Formats: sequence, C-alpha cells, structure tokens
Amino acid sequence: MLNQIKIQKTTTPKQKPDQNNLGFGKHFTDHMFIMDYSKDKGWHDARIVPYGPLEIDPATMVLHYGQAIFEGLKAYRTADGRILLFRPEKNMERINKSNDRMCIPPIDVDFGVEAIKTLVSLDKDWIPTVEGTSLYIRPFIIATDPYLGVKPADTYKFIIIMSPSGAYYSTGINPVKIYVENKYVRAVRGGTGFAKTPGNYAASLKAQGIAHDKGYEQVLWLDGVEMKYVEEVGSMNVFFKINGEVITPSLDGSILPGITRESVIQLLKHWNIPVTERKLGIQELYDAYKEGRLEEAFGTGTAAVISPIGELNWNDHVMTINNGEIGELATRIYNTITGIQSGKIQDEFGWTTEVK
Ligand code: COI
Repeated sequence: MLNQIKIQKTTTPKQKPDQNNLGFGKHFTDHMFIMDYSKDKGWHDARIVPYGPLEIDPATMVLHYGQAIFEGLKAYRTADGRILLFRPEKNMERINKSNDRMCIPPIDVDFGVEAIKTLVSLDKDWIPTVEGTSLYIRPFIIATDPYLGVKPADTYKFIIIMSPSGAYYSTGINPVKIYVENKYVRAVRGGTGFAKTPGNYAASLKAQGIAHDKGYEQVLWLDGVEMKYVEEVGSMNVFFKINGEVITPSLDGSILPGITRESVIQLLKHWNIPVTERKLGIQELYDAYKEGRLEEAFGTGTAAVISPIGELNWNDHVMTINNGEIGELATRIYNTITGIQSGKIQDEFGWTTEVK
C-alpha cells in the first residue's frame, strides 16, 4: 500500500449549486479520489484528480457481472467553522466486509479514512451550511479487467466522489409512507444482503416502482424465506416502539448493518430506553398496531438520517402510526444524532472526527 496521495487540482472550478435547493446526489464537487489495484502492485497510485468521466473498456467486468461495493457517509460544517465526519472508520470497516463477500481485496481502514479526509479538506468549500444539508461522500470500488469470463477480477478501482446534498426523501423529516412488500424479496440467507453492493439496490427497483405507483415512498422488505419477518427498507434500517420498548430486526446476514442503526441503539441504551434486536414478525407488528401498542416507527440511514414512518400498508391493512406525525422519540433521536454530527451537541461518544 502506497500511502502518498498525489493531488492534481482543477484549473476550472465549477460553480456551486444553490444550497436551498440541493436535492440528494445531484451535484458533484471539483475533485475525486482514485486508487488502483493490481495483483502485482496491490492498492497503488492513490491520487486526487479533477472530477470527471472515467474512460473504461466496454468489456470492463463490473458492467457485466456487477462486482462492486459502495459506502455512504457525510461531512458537516459546524457553526464555529470546523469540519466533522461521522464515524468514517465504521464505513471503511464495512467496506472490507462487503469486499470480502464480493471477492474484492481489502483496503487499509486508516488509509481509507485518510483518503476521505484529504478529499474533504481539498473540497471543503463545497460543504453546505444550510440547516439539514451536508456533503455526502460516496466511496466505491469497481472491478476493471476487460474480460467476459465470470470470475473475481484481477484489477479494481477505489474511487471517492462527493455531493453537497439536502434531505434524501423529498418529504424531509416529515413521515414517509411505506408499503410492506408481499411478492418480491431483497435478500436471502447466505446471499449478499449484508453487503453494500449495487445488485441489492438494482433488485429493489421493481418493487419500489410498484409501491411508488400506489403512493408509497419506499418498501419494507420481509425475510426472503417465509416472508414473515421484518427486515429493512433498503435505504434504511427500521425501528418500532411497541409498548415503550424499541425493537429493531437483528442482523442475520440479510440486513445491512447500518452505522446510524448502531449509533441509535447505543443512544437508546445510554438513555435507558429498552431496546431489543430480534426477529420481528409482521403479524406481531400488525397485532401491536391493532391493540394500540405500536407507538412509533422510524428508519435510520446515513442518507435518510432518521426518517419517521407515518403509514405502513401490509396486504392492504393500513397502519397509521402516531397519527402520521413525527413521534417524540424519533424527534429526540433526530435532534441528538444531527446535533452531534453537526457539532451543535457535545459528542460524548467519540463518534465525530475532525478534518483539518
Ligand atoms: C446511505 O444511506 O448512505 C446509503 O447508501 C443509502 C443509499 C441508498 C442512498
């Protein structure tokens, strides 16, 4: 591993977008990080170059067999001008879990964090400051051999791009309506559900489209074997408050191990709010709803942060949760997590990393 990052600065900086109208993942900063892998050199030639198109052979393996992984994290500008990252080492650790599943060689965690910090520091003027915005950072790895045989590639590129972004859902912090998917599944036992690999997201689009047409923003996936147990939303992990206890599906290999999920569990424990990771049946959830015990539901994710769920539709059984409004607990978690991320609240967990 070469740990020197060469920097080639752009000579034509782009105009920055209007911070009040960013959307999610639409605008990209002036630079990107690239590092190559080959069998003989390992990861090498780490560099930051002007943001721009990649020139790739049409036979490039990732285009055919999808051997790729990605991550998502955010940089925030604090009121006193500091730059904070939220748990970047967790993203790099997860990259290596995804890499292992997808037969991609591991990346040194510290070097990966250093690469992110160097890029953020160079493009720091792109970090938006308007409430609810941040600089979304997207590291990803693709298999690059020009070859049509099905096998793990011998060459890869690790790339980091960054996008000044607002809320992931157009509803912002307002509750989302979610359709419980009853035909398609996202992941199965022994599959790639826990890995952050593009195919999981491609596989979700069909059900997503059908749910959209019915007026729902997202789908809630059930387990791929019995379609009985709640899994995740695809862009978020899910939490339910039932009778004062917060329940989230346990990680069993088919659910993404969310970093916001882990942080929320830690926060709830810190607040002495009962929190349990276990299998949660959709029938059990519906029964709790009917008996008036389902108090709140919300999703957690890097892009979505904390997103309250106002309505769930399971086989046309409509559950309106907390009158379709943001719950007290979701609000408290949202304020605390975003407060720590943006430096408004003292970080007593050691979650933030400053970029100089
Ligand atoms: C993230 O939350 O960062 C993700 O990667 C989810 C993605 C679908 C936007």
